[in-house]
Amino acid sequence: MSADPSSVSALPRYSRRVVEERDAHAELLADFRAGMLEAPRTLPPKYFYDARGSQLFDAICDTPEYYPTRLEADLLERHADAILEASGARTLFELGSGTSRKTEYLLAALEGRIAQPHYIANDVCAEILDEAGGRLLQRFGHLQVDSLCGDYAAALAHLGDVSGSPADGPRLFAFLGSSLGNFEDAEAAGLLQRIRETMNPEDRLLLGLDRVKPRPVLEAAYNDAAGVTAAFNLNLLSVLNTELGADFDADGFEHRAPFVEEHSRIEMHLVARRDQVVHVSEPEARLEIAEGEAIRTEISRKFSREAVDRLLAAAGLEHETEWSAPEEWYSLFLLRPGAG
Ligand code: AVJ
Repeated sequence: MSADPSSVSALPRYSRRVVEERDAHAELLADFRAGMLEAPRTLPPKYFYDARGSQLFDAICDTPEYYPTRLEADLLERHADAILEASGARTLFELGSGTSRKTEYLLAALEGRIAQPHYIANDVCAEILDEAGGRLLQRFGHLQVDSLCGDYAAALAHLGDVSGSPADGPRLFAFLGSSLGNFEDAEAAGLLQRIRETMNPEDRLLLGLDRVKPRPVLEAAYNDAAGVTAAFNLNLLSVLNTELGADFDADGFEHRAPFVEEHSRIEMHLVARRDQVVHVSEPEARLEIAEGEAIRTEISRKFSREAVDRLLAAAGLEHETEWSAPEEWYSLFLLRPGAG
């Protein structure tokens, strides 16, 4: 979540600005009202990522079961030079950058081509942006890092604040980790469209998407043996307790994450272990949650080729090049904005 909206932390070669359109708290209130007051209850997954949630997500990426991070990192490591070559980029702008660990492969390739490379990071978590920025400045001695703290829409709306001079382009937009999989078709197409509208004709988008694969592999990735994903899911309740003055009892819920084949997606749920009443002070509410009732906290889509092509067509993005893991278990798509 974002810090003080007026804060701009400034070091040589580093800046961070808060770019939420509405303040993050008002947004959570509205989403809670819309999704949590009656069954079926749901919340958007962006609220997972307070400082602890971001750390837990990072820990998920290190579990042996969570394959997407490793498959994507491997593709980036092997093809970073080709990606930068094909895009001709001078600047890298990343949506949902988190720790930016995988991004280092792209930044290394960028630094090999450009004397004064520019990286624009975006995340909802201020702490993780500052931590990543500090690490990147140490590793890359000529890199300028500008962080935009806020959601995707806000970052796209404010990209022009930190980028846009001719010397900055062409830019490579990166949307990695299959984060697009958090959105249903209409919303995903809308987000991709917003990205396309923000791109100049010579800019490129690198989109990392998780693909369909056997159910046991998928379900293991979201039900790791060490329980890190369960802790990540349950941490949402403590975000709600803190932000909304609620009294959710984490022991009253259990993590569940089945692959729902008909929608080709993992669904993360928090399932009530017993009947319970939860009090919320803002918005003032009393939730009666029945044993077995599920709060859907996230969808994580697994894309078929057809689904990818449909989405890109709807958004007006065209294929340039792509790189896939063996058996197409994970893919990176390099895309250009369509003429239309
Ligand atoms: C960061 C949204 C891509 O959906 O796989 C990981 C988040 N949730 N384990 C995903 C997540 C549970 C992740 N994304």
